[in-house]
Amino acid sequence: MFHLRDATAADLPAINAIYNHYVLTSTCTYQILPSTLEERDAWFSGRAPRHPVIVAEDDGGEVVAWGSLSSFHKREAFERTVENSVYVSHARQRLGLGRTVMEELIRRARARDVHTIVAAISSDQAGSLLLHERLGFVETGRLHEVGRKFGKVLDVVYMQLMTRS
Ligand SMILES: CC(C)(COP(=O)(O)OP(=O)(O)OC[C@H]1O[C@@H](n2cnc3c(N)ncnc32)[C@H](O)[C@@H]1OP(=O)(O)O)[C@@H](O)C(=O)NCCC(=O)NCCS
Repeated sequence: MFHLRDATAADLPAINAIYNHYVLTSTCTYQILPSTLEERDAWFSGRAPRHPVIVAEDDGGEVVAWGSLSSFHKREAFERTVENSVYVSHARQRLGLGRTVMEELIRRARARDVHTIVAAISSDQAGSLLLHERLGFVETGRLHEVGRKFGKVLDVVYMQLMTRS
């Protein structure tokens, strides 16, 4: 079993450990060099209420997944648009953690009057595309050949969930 809670600064090493595994092994992030703790700290501090970071913790107190809503664009008129991230420990995939974290992020977005959530997903990430589709996200755009990682040229799929009608 696991439970969700707001992340604290003490979770940042665990958040980085989960994320940096994918930096080094996967095209799900286009980052190539692992995030340092200083970078993670800057990412975490000073977040607006509309930009939460949550973690899933197992019964032993280990952080096994995290998710966030972040600013989509710094210009003020984008204020009600957020971009989501969700990362599950590679050892804990397909246990429902990604879905549970995303459902909580969607709840938080609705509670904070977010209008739409944008997910930017590498087109080769079938599992992530399906997860978002199952949660009601639809493809609204595609950028062709904008990434290159592990010698592969990559497309980015934009998916959106409208959280306000
Ligand atoms: C994508 C990711 C978040 C999914 O989380 P997860 O906990 O493994 O997935 P869940 O168990 O919650 O799966 C929910 C649904 O998503 C879909 N899904 C998830 N992973 C899948 C995969 N590898 N292949 C096919 N479908 C998948 C399925 O529909 C699944 O439902 P099901 O298990 O009943 O078939 C996780 O694999 C991950 O962290 N990947 C690396 C990071 C990443 O890609 N993040 C998204 C970028 S924003």
